Amino acid sequence: MAKAIGLGWLLLSSVLRLSASDTLDIDVTLYVDGNCITAYTSMLLLDDGCYANMYTNLTKAFKLKIVGFTGVSRYDLYDYTDACYSQFSPKRTLVSGKCERFVGGYYASLKSRLRSTTCVGESCSRLAVTTQRFFSEANCMGLPYMIYTYPVQNECMRWSNGTQAFRVDPTTTNVTQVDYLANDKCNGDQIRSYVMSVGYCYELYPDEVPRSFKWDVERYDATTVGQARLGGPSVFLPLLAAPVLLGHQEF
Ligand SMILES: *[C@@H]1O[C@H](CO)[C@@H](O)[C@H](O)[C@H]1NC(C)=O
Ligand SMILES: *[C@@H]1O[C@H](CO)[C@@H](O)[C@H](O)[C@H]1NC(C)=O
Ligand SMILES: *[C@@H]1O[C@H](CO)[C@@H](O)[C@H](O)[C@H]1NC(C)=O
Repeated sequence: MAKAIGLGWLLLSSVLRLSASDTLDIDVTLYVDGNCITAYTSMLLLDDGCYANMYTNLTKAFKLKIVGFTGVSRYDLYDYTDACYSQFSPKRTLVSGKCERFVGGYYASLKSRLRSTTCVGESCSRLAVTTQRFFSEANCMGLPYMIYTYPVQNECMRWSNGTQAFRVDPTTTNVTQVDYLANDKCNGDQIRSYVMSVGYCYELYPDEVPRSFKWDVERYDATTVGQARLGGPSVFLPLLAAPVLLGHQEF
């Protein structure tokens, strides 16, 4: 039943645009063999997320982009020698329901999962994400002009100066960002960590853009659907953190 709904939705999506709160995540099961029999691990990936490549030392990051919804789902797989700017090899298009060569000598089967407040059943994605919004005005007024989304299950993500991971506490009070400087695999001893209050507006530059930013959390589990609450008033990031925060990704 849930599968049928999922499939129906996927077909529909070829003609309808996703609403802002409806997102597809990518369910990836890795296998050690080319027949996809011996599973190694499974993961739920953010479409277009820049993930640290934990599966080989040849490249530093990889990314999957959902590119097709009609019939089978299609995903472009990219690998990079840096934080998702310089490609290592030409992109390859993988399709759902097949055993595909992945990265680092692994094989994978892929499928899309809907993440939405209205999605019910086993096939829905329950990936929790944090959204960082930058505003040109102070006090987080107006429309955000840059929005970054990161998964918060402590996944190892690539950024320009190393790797980083995000997590959120069970009460959705704080987002914790840990940067692993000059390290490719989210370890090492050069660690910088930031605790950000969910929903709190942080002021940035007084005289230039961006003037403020804010972190929100989207969760889709039964108890905390779409929850994002205001945090305490007393948490401040040093201004020093600004270039780091801004240096994450291309704008
Ligand atoms: C990457 O290199 C490190 C250090 O040489 C090694 O310990 C690790 O096993 C390598 N990882 C992979 C996936 O090849
Ligand atoms: C959130 O972070 C603040 C500041 O670091 C801390 O005082 C507070 O205990 C944290 N709350 C939770 C629920 O982790
Ligand atoms: C990048 O990492 C190095 C340490 O390896 C550190 O000295 C430098 O400050 C970092 N740069 C930024 C922008 O975080």
